[in-house]
Amino acid sequence: MIDIKGLTVEYEGGIKALEGVDLTISEGDSLGLIGANGAGKSSLFRSLTGLTAFKGSIMFNGLEVVKKNMPEIRKNLGYVIQESDDQMFMPKVIEDMIFGPVNYGTSKDEAVKKAEEILAQLEISHLKERYNHKISGGEKKMAAIATILMMKPNVILFDEPTSSLDPHNRRTVINAIKRIDATKIIASHDLDLIYDTCEKVALLNKGRIVKVGERDDILRDKDLLEENGLELPLSITGR
Ligand SMILES: Nc1ncnc2c1ncn2[C@@H]1O[C@H](COP(=O)(O)OP(=O)(O)O)[C@@H](O)[C@H]1O
Ligand SMILES: [Mg+2]
Repeated sequence: MIDIKGLTVEYEGGIKALEGVDLTISEGDSLGLIGANGAGKSSLFRSLTGLTAFKGSIMFNGLEVVKKNMPEIRKNLGYVIQESDDQMFMPKVIEDMIFGPVNYGTSKDEAVKKAEEILAQLEISHLKERYNHKISGGEKKMAAIATILMMKPNVILFDEPTSSLDPHNRRTVINAIKRIDATKIIASHDLDLIYDTCEKVALLNKGRIVKVGERDDILRDKDLLEENGLELPLSITGR
């Protein structure tokens, strides 16, 4: 479904964010992309979504990730960015949710109906008429996820979905992610989040893939995690 080969991202000033990354994601996978700050997780997502120039090749559903294919690719690829404030640009939650589908030709009534279903599914129907700038961080994250689901993507990227959320909101977001039926890639250094939501894990360090494997083979390997600037998930240490 996604085939990444030799992905290299170099920013101005010669900073190499990714170097020679090979990674394959199959349909139905839930992959945790883990690594310390600066490891290159967001750069990988920005490459996949055509937001950053890169070297190497990325294939998405048989289409190469290049400018001319982006409109087609974006129909099937949802991207929940780290800063929900930058994701929402309409005043109200419902307006944000229907914007994409209406733009693609769905009638307003139909889009609202679909939005109501998704809000109910995520148990956030009360946010429908709320203003994006007047809801909490956790509510914003949920609204951002709801907006992405409107486009029925078959792959969804989540960049640090629990960062800066309190424990209650964090749990709400984790439960929502678990219930979403799509191929998922979740980037985070919150290894408890990854443990809860992913079956496979890819470990990045300084722009390179260190290891890809089954969840338990990576998240229970204390030495491997510590060598790469991470710590065992609390759910494993039992602390
Ligand atoms: N727009 C940018 N310009 C220059 N350097 C950047 C830019 N974005 C990220 N970097 C650098 O690239 C490296 C990888 O960053 P990033 O992909 O954001 O990592 P992560 O998401 O794992 O924290 C870091 O060294 C970061 O400082
Ligand atoms: Mg990041």
